[in-house]
Amino acid sequence: MAVKVRDRLAADVRRDLSRPRKRLQPRCLYDALGSRLFEAICALPEYRITRAEQRLLAAHAREVGEGLAVPVTIVELGAGSGEKLAQLMEPLVRAGVPMRVELVDVSATALDLAARTLSRWPDLPVTGHETTYEDGLERVAARRRGGGAVLTAFLGSNIGNLDPAAGLAFVGAVRSALRPGDRFLLGADLVKSEAELVLAYDDPLGVTAAFNLNVLARLNRELGANFDLERFAHRAVWNAAESRMEMHLESLRAQTVEIPGAGCSVRLLEGESIWTESSYKYETAGLRELGAAAGLGVRGQWVDERDRFALTAFEVPESAP
Ligand code: AVI
Repeated sequence: MAVKVRDRLAADVRRDLSRPRKRLQPRCLYDALGSRLFEAICALPEYRITRAEQRLLAAHAREVGEGLAVPVTIVELGAGSGEKLAQLMEPLVRAGVPMRVELVDVSATALDLAARTLSRWPDLPVTGHETTYEDGLERVAARRRGGGAVLTAFLGSNIGNLDPAAGLAFVGAVRSALRPGDRFLLGADLVKSEAELVLAYDDPLGVTAAFNLNVLARLNRELGANFDLERFAHRAVWNAAESRMEMHLESLRAQTVEIPGAGCSVRLLEGESIWTESSYKYETAGLRELGAAAGLGVRGQWVDERDRFALTAFEVPESAP
């Protein structure tokens, strides 16, 4: 593991586990194993985000990319497996549109997976950036040359892992990296029944539980911590007031855990939890407002009513600065 990555992990862990309400950054969930467990989650019948988004992409990818100035630069923030990106690109490839791809993800595993998926087009230039979204956006903007449009995709309801203020700041940062005529495609999960949501984040096979617990195993592996995984339980809770699913790791007894690589120890009470992730759920109007607040116009919005998921294509107006 690169020193920079370990230093950031250690700093995150030291800060977040000493807060009055203990937490871990959701990005800590995505080491190599975490990324693979997330891929497995996407295949679960109870986690319907991926398939709903794929259905929407199959039906509307052509409209999303239609009329973009060439050559087109496709940027995916949060690379995933690359399958959805490939779906988005398919009509452009078929139309012979000259393109290049920039992938941004904190996980090297995700970048590798996505690059492998896109290798089905051997002549397509693909660049991976193993970094945060903000830094990735800056790098992509700095690499931009001459004409052509940028289509930035943020799929899979990754926006849901940002709180509303961070979501707004994020969409603002995306907008700042774009020029008139560029587009931003946002995939976001919508509010649905509590029963469906809880099942999606607490599946009967226990894959999501393994994904969540893996963050503690990761701290054992990478920071020499001594978390006993049997002393923690995965909890998935719908917080209606905040419109978000929350994942927690609940301490099943009072315990103290040493984390030498972060230079700290953590005391947990019985029943106390470490909050590992929030997944905010949106309404379609809220998504349009999110773009409007950043100065983005809506080109199209498509909803999968079966699984309550929305794909919104924004565009920077030609008249914008
Ligand atoms: C990556 N992200 C959008 C997923 C979500 O739904 O919030 C991560 C996840 N957590 C538990 N299951 C899936």
